[in-house]
Amino acid sequence: MNIPFVDLHAQYTGIKTEIDSVISDVIEKSLFVRGPYVDKFEQMFAELMNRQHCVSCANGTDSLYIAMIALGVKPGDEVIAPAHSWISTTETITQAGAKVVFCDTESDTFTIDPRAIEAKITAKTVGIIPVHLYGQAADMEPIMEIARKHKLWVLEDCAQAHLARYKGKLVGTFGDAASFSFYPGKNLGAMGDAGAVVTNDSALAEKMAMFARHGGLRKGDHQIEGINSRLDGIQAAILSVKLPHLPAWTAQRQNRAQRYSDLLSSVASIETPHVADGRDHVWHLYVIKHEQRDELAQHLAAKGIQTVINYPVALPFLPAYRRFEHQPADFPNTYTNQSRILSLPIYPELTDAQMDYVVAAITEFCEKTES
Ligand SMILES: Cc1ncc(COP(=O)(O)O)c(C=O)c1O
Repeated sequence: MNIPFVDLHAQYTGIKTEIDSVISDVIEKSLFVRGPYVDKFEQMFAELMNRQHCVSCANGTDSLYIAMIALGVKPGDEVIAPAHSWISTTETITQAGAKVVFCDTESDTFTIDPRAIEAKITAKTVGIIPVHLYGQAADMEPIMEIARKHKLWVLEDCAQAHLARYKGKLVGTFGDAASFSFYPGKNLGAMGDAGAVVTNDSALAEKMAMFARHGGLRKGDHQIEGINSRLDGIQAAILSVKLPHLPAWTAQRQNRAQRYSDLLSSVASIETPHVADGRDHVWHLYVIKHEQRDELAQHLAAKGIQTVINYPVALPFLPAYRRFEHQPADFPNTYTNQSRILSLPIYPELTDAQMDYVVAAITEFCEKTES
């Protein structure tokens, strides 16, 4: 059996008629950039997220950058971000002109450790970017408390966590703004690049929209210099078709994850993902831990099972951040996790038979190595 890490074709098969029809409508009407499909998607996504504004843009990385520029980030500022994330979270801090200040993550949830944040705050700190990594909410209550106490903004990186909740409240509704990616493999994915920022702050929304569109909301009226970061009509149309399916797809991801955890609970050397109390997980990724992670991944690959390491080298230890000269002891949890984590295939369409095959292959490896 061959089990891909993600299976976008399986999702397309279920909604092919609707998708094909909106794509051809965009082409027939030449609605390539902005237009009614983009307006409609922005409205639908703001509504889904229970926010007043949704500013769409070209991708999730831009959404972080655009939000930080609108929040007023400037050279000399410092922004705190988790040591364990995708590089978009931090490369955009640098692009916005600020200094990246890494913070360790919780050993069991992989999200920023609120207990480690305050030690990172200096007179130059302006904001915190919690990442709801793999689909699990970061510990937002203490994070917001710290932010209020030190008058910092909070930009939630929700790229992996559409519809995840913390104590019943949607992630993306805690901070000043929240960024999203609709990269094809995300829980809500376009058929190309796409992103958005949501917020309840009207002035911030206007600044973000202006910056993303060459510094002006009307043609020829450039109030500032901006960038060109637009959502394509085709991507907006695709996302509008997919969005109503997101709650059911999320429930199905949760069902698949629970089944993995149940089946793997008897395999002693596997640490299944931990979901902290009061935090919801939408399972963008199902990440297990194992002491012999690389050998396990090789064993699964030999059986036709595709796995991924998200991420093999944590951000502070990448060549891109060599300038900070960080040591493993600076981020002990993140450092320990980076050599143990392994992401298994997970998507709403993953069948019981596929999962049984994955679990059997893992069990076989573990029995061999445990004995
Ligand atoms: C945590 C995180 N932040 C930001 C991004 C950036 O999104 P994009 O790939 O759409 O630029 C991603 C996705 O790759 C991500 O996983």
